[in-house]
Amino acid sequence: MGQHYTKLIAEWYDDWLKELTRDIDYYSEFFSDFDGQVLELACGTGRLLMPIAESGVTIHGLDSSQDMLDVLKRKVTKLNSKGIEYHNQLMENFSLPTKYDAIFVASGSFQLLTSSENALNSLGCVLDHLSDDGFLLADIFVPWDSIVAQKRNDYHVTRDVVRPDGKRSIVLERFEIDIPTQVKRGTYRYEFYDQERLTDCITDDLSIRWYWKDEFLSILKNAGFSRIDVLTKSPLYAEGYSFVFKAFKCDSD
Ligand SMILES: C[S@@+](CC[C@H](N)C(=O)[O-])C[C@H]1O[C@@H](n2cnc3c(N)ncnc32)[C@H](O)[C@@H]1O
Repeated sequence: MGQHYTKLIAEWYDDWLKELTRDIDYYSEFFSDFDGQVLELACGTGRLLMPIAESGVTIHGLDSSQDMLDVLKRKVTKLNSKGIEYHNQLMENFSLPTKYDAIFVASGSFQLLTSSENALNSLGCVLDHLSDDGFLLADIFVPWDSIVAQKRNDYHVTRDVVRPDGKRSIVLERFEIDIPTQVKRGTYRYEFYDQERLTDCITDDLSIRWYWKDEFLSILKNAGFSRIDVLTKSPLYAEGYSFVFKAFKCDSD
């Protein structure tokens, strides 16, 4: 994972995604009346987890980055929110003492597991941690614009944010698409400025794998889920197509 989601990147993460509210609205609405224990995999800074917790749902978070979890912990302390637990573990290999009624992984984070082995291991861990009535909720997006473009060798700006104190950060991306493995390999440059002066610059690689809708349905079936619903085809994210899958551990019939 390199430096992705650590240090300054973790500190600025919420600033960069400030305008992305569609997924917060979607998941907050989904869990608004939910009466059960929820776990969010790859919860990061709690951008989605916190609004769900604030509506009274018992929710735990899991993430591989302690720096992202530290940002979440600060929010929990500030809002004095109760009942939130966070676990610094890998979504492809986790072990927790609780059985959950719902486990969700949003913002395409499942796609950070680019190997089939890790993806299957993760789904196995999810099944082990679900109650019999429990389900997995996972969103998957197809980065269609990037697939069509195939590659961009020049860095282009994807985020440019100025804080009220005048500090500024810019995120630049270049990428290439690997069709046979269905992977977008990105290289990201993060520039941090204090009053026009460059104070830090971090470059890091990050890959995501995409799945087609029927392909992901088969993967969920083969992993051992029973009924699987595709809840929405409406775009949750700026780029491409997204799908939300709801996969039940056991058949209710
Ligand atoms: C795109 S962010 C999403 C965070 C949060 N879900 C949101 O929507 O704001 C991806 C998160 O996945 C975490 N992550 C990456 N690989 C992971 C892994 N193998 N296991 C657990 N978390 C992982 C990162 O640390 C990061 O917090």
